[in-house]
Amino acid sequence: MPARSMAPAEKIIAIYPGSFDPVTNGHLDLIERASKLFDRLVVALLLNPDKEPLFSVEERVEMLQEVVKRLRNVEVDTFGGLLVDYARRKKARVLLRGIRAVSDYEYELQMALMNRQLEPQLETVFMLPAEAYSYLSSRLVREVARLGGSVRGLVPPTVEARIRAKVSRP
Ligand code: PNS
Repeated sequence: MPARSMAPAEKIIAIYPGSFDPVTNGHLDLIERASKLFDRLVVALLLNPDKEPLFSVEERVEMLQEVVKRLRNVEVDTFGGLLVDYARRKKARVLLRGIRAVSDYEYELQMALMNRQLEPQLETVFMLPAEAYSYLSSRLVREVARLGGSVRGLVPPTVEARIRAKVSRP
């Protein structure tokens, strides 16, 4: 019988990158699912060049921290530059992305293959959010919010409250 390796199992660190402007219930659903699969999950907010975000980076980080604080192996961070460089610094093995519908696939495939070209050791893992959220996106939440519509049930309550405070301000 071959000798069994006594090396401890490697802890798998996954990175869930995105803009999260704002975090939606679809994101949160994926984070909860992934937190059960990976040893550590880093939700990594891109310090992004989007000129007109609804929420500042600080606000987005705060909201993410509020919604993940009950998940012990999940942390929130920010990054700039190439995602693969950030993943290397965090010693991550996995990049996590959500796919809602076939329409997401082409863009995600391009990104995943480019990231693989840049860093072959890093695996992109796609997960599906609950189908109830398959139409949900931060972009639509922003649009509905800016036009005064309700986003109840689409975003966590803390995010809903912040949206209400933001759009009711003159
Ligand atoms: O939530 P988003 O906006 O769809 O997330 C896009 C994100 C942050 C994953 C992507 O823009 C990204 O990874 N940007 C970092 C710069 C980078 O590495 N670009 C090459 C990716 S192939």
